[in-house]
Amino acid sequence: EINLRNRNFLKLLDFTPEEISYLLELSKNLKAAKKEGIEQHLLKGKNIALIFEKTSTRTRCAFEVAAFDQGAQVSYLGPSGTQIGHKESMKDTARVLGRMYDGIEYRGYGQVIVEKLGRYAGVPVWNGLTNEFHPTQVLADFLTMQEHRGKPLSETTFCYLGDARFNMGNSLMVGAAKMGMDFRIAAPKGFQPDADLVTACREIAGQTGAKITITDQVAEAVKSCDFLYTDVWVSMGEPESVWAERIELLKPYQVNRKVIELTGKPDVKFLHCLPAFHNRDTKIGEEIFQKFGMDALEVTEEVFESPASIVFDEAENRMHTIKAVMVATLV
Ligand code: CP
Ligand code: NVA
Repeated sequence: EINLRNRNFLKLLDFTPEEISYLLELSKNLKAAKKEGIEQHLLKGKNIALIFEKTSTRTRCAFEVAAFDQGAQVSYLGPSGTQIGHKESMKDTARVLGRMYDGIEYRGYGQVIVEKLGRYAGVPVWNGLTNEFHPTQVLADFLTMQEHRGKPLSETTFCYLGDARFNMGNSLMVGAAKMGMDFRIAAPKGFQPDADLVTACREIAGQTGAKITITDQVAEAVKSCDFLYTDVWVSMGEPESVWAERIELLKPYQVNRKVIELTGKPDVKFLHCLPAFHNRDTKIGEEIFQKFGMDALEVTEEVFESPASIVFDEAENRMHTIKAVMVATLV
C-alpha cells in the first residue's frame, strides 16, 4: 500500500518505481474525474504557497488550476516582492511559510535551496524546477507517453537530444532509470549529464532493467525510438553570451525531419517541456535567429507543428500530474 502523505517531492531519486507509478495512476484518475465532471474537493481548506524565483507559464498555471479544481487557495510569490534570498534566509522563510501554509511549491536556482526549504518547512515542499531537476515535468512526460503508446513505460524507448547537463536531461534520465525504460541521450561531449548522476542511474537501471545510452551520435541514439525529446539550448539563469557557442555545438542535435526519419519509426512522437524556439514568433527567438541566421533552434517548425508533435497534450498533463502530487502528499 503506497502512502505519500507529508512527503516532499523534490527529485525522482527520492521515489521508488512503485511510488512513481502510483502518482501516474492517480494523475490518470484525477484527469478522468475532471473530464467526467465528477472531481471532488480533496484539498478543500488547504492553503498553498507558490514561490517562483524564475518565470513560468505552465508550472505556475498548473499549480494554480490544480489547487482551485481541488478547492484549495494559493498565494503566488513571484521573482520580486518577497524577502526570500535577499533579506531572509531560506531556513527562516521555510519556518515562516510552514506555519501558514499546508504545502509549498518552489521554482528557483540550486537544488540545495529547495532541499533546505523541504528540510525546514514542516509541510510538503514540491520542486517546480531547479537548475538540476524538474521532476513534475517528467511525471507529465511519462503520463503523455503512456497515453500515446498505450504500453508500459518499461517497454518504451526514447531519446533526449541537446543540452543534457541540466534539469530536463537529468530528470528524464533518473525517471527512465526508475521506470525501466530504454533511454538514450544524444549530446556533444561536455553537454552530457554529470558522471556521478550517470553512475547512480546506471545502478538503478541494474535493478529495474532500464537501459541507458549516452552518445554524441544522433543516428545511433534515435534509432527505433518511440519518442524524441528536446529542450531549449540555453536555460533560465544562463547569460546571453553563451548563445553563440551553444548554437554552434548543438546545431547537429536539432530535432528536424531528418532526425525523425532516422528513428525508422513512422509513428514516432515528439515531446518538449516548452517553451520552445521553433519559429520567429517570440522576441528573444527573433533576435537570436537574426543574429545567427537560423529559422529555428532545438526543433524545426515543421516537426513542432506536425502530427508527431504531442507537446500540448504534454503541457496539459502538467496540471493533472501536479494535482496528483499535491493530493498524494496532502491528503
Ligand atoms: N515546462 C515548464 O516548466 O514551463 P514553464 O517554465 O512555463 O513553467
Ligand atoms: N531547461 C529549461 C527548462 C524549462 C522548463 C530551463 O531550465 O530553462
